[in-house]
Amino acid sequence: MEIKKVGVIGCGLMGSGIVQVCAQSGYQVAASEINEELLNKGLAAMNAALTRSVDKGKLSQPDKDAILSRIKGTTDIKDFHDCDLVIEAVSESMDLKKKIFGDMDRVCPKQAILATNTSCLSIIDIAMATTRPDKVLGLHFFNPAPVMPLLEIVSTIATSDDTIEVSKNFGHSLGKTIVIAQDAPGFIVNRLMVPQILNAIRMFESGVASKEDIDTGVTLGLNHPMGPLALADLVGLDTLLLIADSIYDVSKDAQFVAPILLHRMVSAGWLGRKTGKGFYDYQ
Ligand code: 3HC
Repeated sequence: MEIKKVGVIGCGLMGSGIVQVCAQSGYQVAASEINEELLNKGLAAMNAALTRSVDKGKLSQPDKDAILSRIKGTTDIKDFHDCDLVIEAVSESMDLKKKIFGDMDRVCPKQAILATNTSCLSIIDIAMATTRPDKVLGLHFFNPAPVMPLLEIVSTIATSDDTIEVSKNFGHSLGKTIVIAQDAPGFIVNRLMVPQILNAIRMFESGVASKEDIDTGVTLGLNHPMGPLALADLVGLDTLLLIADSIYDVSKDAQFVAPILLHRMVSAGWLGRKTGKGFYDYQ
């Protein structure tokens, strides 16, 4: 099956980045949000990222215009009726995802692949809200999606080989390197990343080192692009807590117990970059 048109549900941090990657790679894209205000906010963030590339001389104005012309914003899921692939990138609520997948199953062509960008939820549970679990899988992008070179493809016990093959070709067409994971809590990357960040928070909480020294230790000692506390701020502390809790719920693995400080910061609304304050200040 050839993918020509992609639908992206949710135009937040991840969704708008995924829209951008797909449109940059030549796909027609339908991008949806629950209302005009959120849609315009997501599309404006993407427009700003493209404008930065034009200003830096990395993208021509005509190329930017061509990318934007391939994107149609909508608040009506019926506009996905001719999509070959739909990628859902809404918040991590199983009920919401099941509702969306049930709706997509009714609206999209019978052969369309339905993917979720979930970081942590069980994909087979989401797939069972459709009549086509063989065509449901995880396409897990990393933040910022236009920059990060990895795409994690997550196969459930019901995903067909054909669905994986088409999705691999799609991922390669976006310029991404593919890794394949089974539908297990945290897949590959979050299963490794989350305990490291939680440990860094515990070290900071118990006074082992300053946040700056913990991050410098990891950036210079392990050659990571950013330290775990700065990365927590990038991911969003609410998202991090949700991922940790949901992996713990299923695995009961003590590595995923969230530190008290993380709970307290989320309660205070210190969610990282998106609220201007997390472990660091972004005002
Ligand atoms: N959106 C789009 N583009 C962005 C961006 C964003 N939010 N942030 C940075 N960029 C682009 C810049 O425009 C720049 O592009 P250019 O090279 O064409 O000029 C390029 O990325 C590098 O950016 P900067 O020069 O501003 O800054 P850095 O060199 O410090 O890179 C970074 C920024 C790419 C965020 C880098 O620090 C990094 O790779 N950090 C680690 C990110 C990471 O680990 N992400 C995974 C998070 S986990 C996840 O997403 C899974 C989920 O389930 C939780």
